[in-house]
Amino acid sequence: MSKHLIAPSILNADFLHLEDEIRMVNRSQADLLHLDIMDGVYVPNLTFGFPVIRQIKSVAEKPLDVHLMIIDPDRYLEQYRDAGADWLTVHYETCQHLHRTIQNIAELGMKPAVSLNPHTDVALLEPVLGYLNMVLVMTVNPGFGGQTFIEASYSKIRKLRQMITASGADTLIQVDGGVGPDNMADLIAAGVDVFVVGTTIFSAPDPLQMIAKLKKSS
Ligand code: DX5
Ligand code: ZN
Repeated sequence: MSKHLIAPSILNADFLHLEDEIRMVNRSQADLLHLDIMDGVYVPNLTFGFPVIRQIKSVAEKPLDVHLMIIDPDRYLEQYRDAGADWLTVHYETCQHLHRTIQNIAELGMKPAVSLNPHTDVALLEPVLGYLNMVLVMTVNPGFGGQTFIEASYSKIRKLRQMITASGADTLIQVDGGVGPDNMADLIAAGVDVFVVGTTIFSAPDPLQMIAKLKKSS
């Protein structure tokens, strides 16, 4: 059986009952809790900030996988650590000095990850692969839940898998956007380790059962 990880994204959860949603994830077979941070500048949407992350952390039993879709993330790395981030993902497109940013995230005690927009070539990460715990291949344009999976992602994932194997690194590959039971098997075959899933989980009649189903995919 595949040993892939599931990271539910609360972007499309019920924010009036957020504690219940997080407790549901606690009880589930999910591995991480994915939080989408948007600044209304890098992406055309806004989400939430440090006080909300801190409160989520006080309830969450799964590690927090914090996906920053913000410009100049270096200004806030320590605050995300203090708010409770365990994994911290920055976008390649937002960093002037990516190697330094990755090092700073690791020195703060978080697991560093870098995300690539659909138009960004995975080859650009070759020089920093050995410093990364995870690469997030965006499978939609970042900003919103419920979008359609971009099929061109498969060739990027396969290329990245080859790069990781060739380098001997143990970097994980994560996908985010338009993921569900219909494409999971193909993504696992392409080499994905970690699946961010939003709408498919939080719009399901039984989210716990959906997480179990996603976890069982192979
Ligand atoms: C999009 C976010 C995703 C989003 C995925 O910019 O990064 O994490 O919640 O949502 P679905 O699974 O609905 O495509
Ligand atoms: Zn995300």
